[in-house]
Amino acid sequence: NSEIVNVVITGAAGQIAYSLIFNVIKGDMFGNDQKIKLVLLDIPAMIDGLRGVVMEIEDCAYPLVSSIVCTTDVKEAFTDAHYAILVGAMPRRDGMERSDLLKANAAIFKVQGKAINDYANKNVKVLVVGNPANTNALIASTCAPNIPKENFSCLTRLDHNRAKAQIALKANVNVKDVHNVIIWGNHSSTQYPDSRCGYINLPTGKTPISNVIKNDQWLQGEFITTVQKRGAAIISARKLSSAASAAKAITDHMHDWVFGTPEGEYVSMGVPSDGSYGIPEGIIFSFPVTIKNGKYTIVQGLPIDPFSRALIDSTHSELIQEKTSAFQFIE
Ligand code: NAI
Repeated sequence: NSEIVNVVITGAAGQIAYSLIFNVIKGDMFGNDQKIKLVLLDIPAMIDGLRGVVMEIEDCAYPLVSSIVCTTDVKEAFTDAHYAILVGAMPRRDGMERSDLLKANAAIFKVQGKAINDYANKNVKVLVVGNPANTNALIASTCAPNIPKENFSCLTRLDHNRAKAQIALKANVNVKDVHNVIIWGNHSSTQYPDSRCGYINLPTGKTPISNVIKNDQWLQGEFITTVQKRGAAIISARKLSSAASAAKAITDHMHDWVFGTPEGEYVSMGVPSDGSYGIPEGIIFSFPVTIKNGKYTIVQGLPIDPFSRALIDSTHSELIQEKTSAFQFIE
């Protein structure tokens, strides 16, 4: 592909970006023949660190990098952006109330949403990673009325990959043979990792997960809580939050958004709700989607049993509360 694409990564001096940038310039996200202008945004206090990252990018000598811009200015960053990956966010500090966190992030995503609205390419695809990801994505989208709502998404692919990995470990199969698990709702501990529609490719054929793992108690219990609490488990073990796996999930999300999903394969993406599965418009909610020609479609008609309904409703109400608290800061 001879056209260069402009890829903005925010939080570019942080730990996720330190893996993500190298996935992107290797070709894992946009393919091996897509030249990239890399635009790295961070805050002024991080600019020295960011210059070090730029030196390392140069030293990788990857041929896909056509140029690198390192900036602290949102206008410079988002001008003509084709892809915007918003990783940078205000972390929760000791003693910080939940409302302080929502307020600080509302301010960041309001400014970035507005800059995307005013300066980015009108077809820009936006992925919000910085937490609270669903609500930050909603704020950015709300502040970008000239960009179609469906161009804003948030990352739940890490949760999706974690769910696949847990199923593969339990069933003792390769993770590539696990398909169509779903993450519903918020990227938080109320998310609902759902294995009911998933299947495993066994040598004997396509087999529902519940026919391979014949343990409903595990599928409706430990499987769900392990995925919900995986981020916290990594922080407690590593003393740092997940970074390489987050970068891999971001790469998967953007890759599939651009190139599409294989026939019959669902992936999980936080996208604007449209009434599907009883989730009214107005929030960014993780759904199972299929993707074709750069456009995702929420998978329709999946059965929702009472157990699932309760979990989906609970993560939905958390998102409504987050929205109500955060939006008082953007008026
Ligand atoms: P980090 O703290 O290592 O890096 C964050 C970077 O963002 C820092 O360099 C910081 O200076 C920068 N930043 C802060 N405000 C900014 C602004 N207004 N503009 C540009 N840059 C700004 O954090 P890490 O580990 O890279 O994580 C980043 C975010 O991703 C966190 O909010 C984390 O909670 C979230 N996350 C989300 C996941 C998901 O699945 N949705 C998974 C893992 C992390």
